[in-house]
Parts: sequence; C-alpha cells; structure tokens
Amino acid sequence: MAYKALYRQFRPRRFGDLKGQELITRILRNQIIQNEPAHAYIFSGPRGTGKTSTAKIFAAALNCENPENGEPCLKCQNCIAALNDSMIDIIEMDAASNNGVDNARDIRDKAGLLPTRGRYKVYIIDEVHMLTGPAFNALLKTIEEPPEHVVFILATTELDAVPKTVLSRCLRFDFKFIDRKLVIERMKEVLRTTGMTADDDALWDIADASEGAMRDALTMLEKCCAFGVNIDSDIVASVLGRASNIALRGFMDCYSRYDERGSILKLREILASGIESGPLAVQLTDILEKILVSVVTGEENAWSGYKDEFSKERLIRSMDIISDAQSKMRYVSRPDAVLEGAVLKTMIPMNDEKALSGGLIETIRRLEKKISELERNGLKAAPETAEEIPVRQEKRPQNKKGSPAQEVSEDAGREGEFFTYLTKELIKKDKSYAPFFSRLELIREDSSQIAVRCDNPMFRNFLSLKADDLNREMDQKFGRHKLITISSANEEKLSPTDEIVIID
Ligand SMILES: Nc1ncnc2c1ncn2[C@@H]1O[C@H](COP(=O)(O)OP(=O)(O)OP(=O)(O)O)[C@@H](O)[C@H]1O
Ligand SMILES: [Mg+2]
Ligand SMILES: [Zn+2]
Repeated sequence: MAYKALYRQFRPRRFGDLKGQELITRILRNQIIQNEPAHAYIFSGPRGTGKTSTAKIFAAALNCENPENGEPCLKCQNCIAALNDSMIDIIEMDAASNNGVDNARDIRDKAGLLPTRGRYKVYIIDEVHMLTGPAFNALLKTIEEPPEHVVFILATTELDAVPKTVLSRCLRFDFKFIDRKLVIERMKEVLRTTGMTADDDALWDIADASEGAMRDALTMLEKCCAFGVNIDSDIVASVLGRASNIALRGFMDCYSRYDERGSILKLREILASGIESGPLAVQLTDILEKILVSVVTGEENAWSGYKDEFSKERLIRSMDIISDAQSKMRYVSRPDAVLEGAVLKTMIPMNDEKALSGGLIETIRRLEKKISELERNGLKAAPETAEEIPVRQEKRPQNKKGSPAQEVSEDAGREGEFFTYLTKELIKKDKSYAPFFSRLELIREDSSQIAVRCDNPMFRNFLSLKADDLNREMDQKFGRHKLITISSANEEKLSPTDEIVIID
C-alpha cells in the first residue's frame, strides 16, 4: 500500500473527530438531522484547520443511509465508498489545477444529472479562489440555482480573492486557528494509536510552532516520530531547526551571571551547530519573555528557574535590544555578528538614570543572594544598621599624637577632605601649587590632624612657608583647620605640635 502521510491517515471521519470548530459542525449536523442542507457553502480560513475534512464529512453524511445524530455512520455502502474516496456522487475538484472555464462548464453540464447512488451530488471545489474569472462566471448560475439534488462546497484560504457575486450566493463558515490545547489533544490521540509517547514540553513546542494549524502540527509530529519512541523537546528542536533546551540553558547560565565570555562562547556553539541567528533571536526573546512573565506573575514555566537572577528592567531592555537586532539581521551579511553584538549590549550596565536604578537593584539583588547563600553556609552577614555597629568607647584624642586612623569618629565620613582640598582644589585655584601638592602622600587624616609625607626637602620648605596661608584657606573653607604634620620617607615618628611642623 502506498505511504500515506500521518495527517492523511488521521483525517477526521466524523464531525466529533474535528477539533475546535464546534459551532460549524453543530450547524452542519443539524442540517443533516433536519435534512435541509443549503445549496452552496463556502468554507474559508487558514491552512490545515479542517475545511476539506469538514467538506468530506458533510458530503458523506448527506449521502449516508443511516446517519447517526447528524454524523455519517461510516458503515453503510455509501459511507464506505466515501471513506475510500470512491463515492461516485461526491465530486472533488482541486481548482488550483482545474481552474479553467472548461472545467467549470463540465461541472455545470453534469450537475443536471441525477445522483447515481446517493441522495445528493456533492461538488467539493478546493482552493476555489484559483478559478479564473470566466470559470467563476460559468459557475455562477449553477451555484445560484442548482438542481434540488446538488450541493456545492467551496473551500478557500483566500476569501478576498473570491468574487463577491459568488460569496453572496453561499452560506459562509469561517474556520479558525485551533486552540493549542486541542492541537495537543489531537496529537496525543494520534500518538496513542501509533504506540509512541511524547513529553508535554515537546507537544507544546510543536503546538506553538504550528500556530494552530493542525496539518502543520501533525506533519511536525511525524518527523519527530522518526527520531525515537519518545519525543522530547530536543527532538522537536532539531526537527524545527531550533536550539535545544540543553544548549539554551548552557547559554542562560552564563548570561544570567553577566559572564560575557561564557555567553558568547555558548552562543557561538549554538550557531556553529547549524541554528540560524534569526530563529535563535526569537528563541532568546521567548525565553526572556517567559522569565519576565514568571517575575511579574510568579507563574511557573520552563524558564522560571531563572527568575531570581533577573530584574524586570533587565528583561524588558534585553528583549528590546534583541528584537531590534533581529529586524536588522535581514539586511546584513553577518547576522550572527549582529546577534552577538546585541547579546553583549544587553550585558552593558544601563546608563540612563532610570535604568541605572534597575542596574543597581540588580546588583543589590545579587549581593543579597550571595549573602543569604553565605549565611546558609554558616557565615554571619555584616551588620546593616548603625545600631548594630559596635562603637568604640575610647575618647577621641584632642590634638594628641597618634590618633588611630581606624577609630570611628563623629566626622569619620569626612576623613580625607582636607587632604583632597590640599591636593586637588588648591591646585585648581593656583596652578603653581601643582608640583608641591601633587607629590604629597597622605599617611592619615582624622578629625584633628593630617599627616602627610613629602620626600623632597625643597617642597617641604615651600610647605612650611605656606603654612599660614594654608591654614587660612582651610579656615575659610571648613570653618577650622587641622594640625598638619609633614614627614619625609625615612621619618619613623611624627611629632605633632599645635603648629604646622615641618620635619626635615
Ligand atoms: N479541526 C481539525 N481537527 C482535527 N484534525 C484536523 C483539523 N483540521 C485539520 N486537521 C488535520 O489536518 C489535515 C488537513 O486538514 P484539512 O485538509 O481539512 O485542512 P484544510 O483547512 O482544508 O487546509 P488547506 O487550506 O491547506 O487545504 C487533516 O487530514 C487532519 O489530519
Ligand atoms: Mg483543504
Ligand atoms: Zn453511512
């Protein structure tokens, strides 16, 4: 027996087998029950959603000797002939290859003859939009007023290409894309009869890729069946020319950690395995979107494991950048380079103010996560509030020597400001200070004292001459001055006095 594609083996034979077109099948069944069919129908809608199948079932039911609740019985002579596509009163014509006026005239002339075996002569004209203008004209009269025993069923994916004059003479049914859940249900029915199994993830991937066209779904399923007894999402990925989940997870592990090198290496591995950058960009955007949904709603999905690694802001921004890159890919000679660039761009810290806060939040999140990990591993986290910081009890020395640099003093936060002023601000004011101050090295600065080192004796001399000026400057700037001690490199001890002391 000739090979029959899976979708043809599993063509629905009864209205009950059709998925997702309930409204249409209910009306058609009622017309069978009441024996009141219309004289012409037009079935429009997307590819592979059941138009031809419905036309065949309806034609069989119209000629069935014992219809059951509007369904063909599938047992009588006429039903069996219809199942074998050999029922003489059901005439199927593919308008894509028989689109001329002669074909239309032939139909018109033979329609007048009575049916041979059944009650109705049923003409199923598939792809009717392909008929030429004269062919439509030749059919028009017959469609408008066919003999009592004739029913026309026209099917098309392009309703707009069918002349209004034809449309207005037909009862119209619009077929819709089929709900993914129903596509999966049908695939499971098919698998059950073939003895194969599939992971739910894999079936979802197929249903998504089919966009709700059942024939596409069954064709993909058939290709997957060639790979083994159980279909998983990696099999689906390779059939669809997509990156496998294992490869994508490898990438996402690096990407979520801001590991630029690792991310690019993983991305290149995927591209080198033959995946094109366009579909890969779509897959990456899908993953980021799934994580985003999980971040926003808490919903569990295949990628929600990454939700703690990403902020909403980072996800939205990354999706934007990758989608932008995807639209550019069509016009460049190296689309994979565009994708790599886009991925790296998404990893650059955000620089606008709002995004920056997103970046900081990101960093804080990661640090928090690290801390809780450390805590889980038995390490104590650093105190967070001022009350938790143990305050040293010793009094701050008043202009006495050796005030310890690590002491927590009331103006600890301002430590270093005098020195900064000396070495930066003063130079800005007067460039001639530059050679002297830029060579200073801070040993320590606390609330009462600055200890600096200056190795060049000439510079030390200069500082001593400037001491009064400097104190005045600092008084003006900070409302007080500090004791400045200047040492040379080999100076062990500082001997501060109440005055500026230059140690030679
Ligand atoms: N609603 C459905 N329920 C179950 N199976 C379906 C359905 N629609 C399509 N199929 C499956 O897809 C195959 C093709 O369907 P059918 O020929 O009826 O689609 P169509 O709408 O006529 O598509 P086209 O516009 O491409 O001709 C069927 O053999 C069947 O296996
Ligand atoms: Mg069809
Ligand atoms: Zn029957």
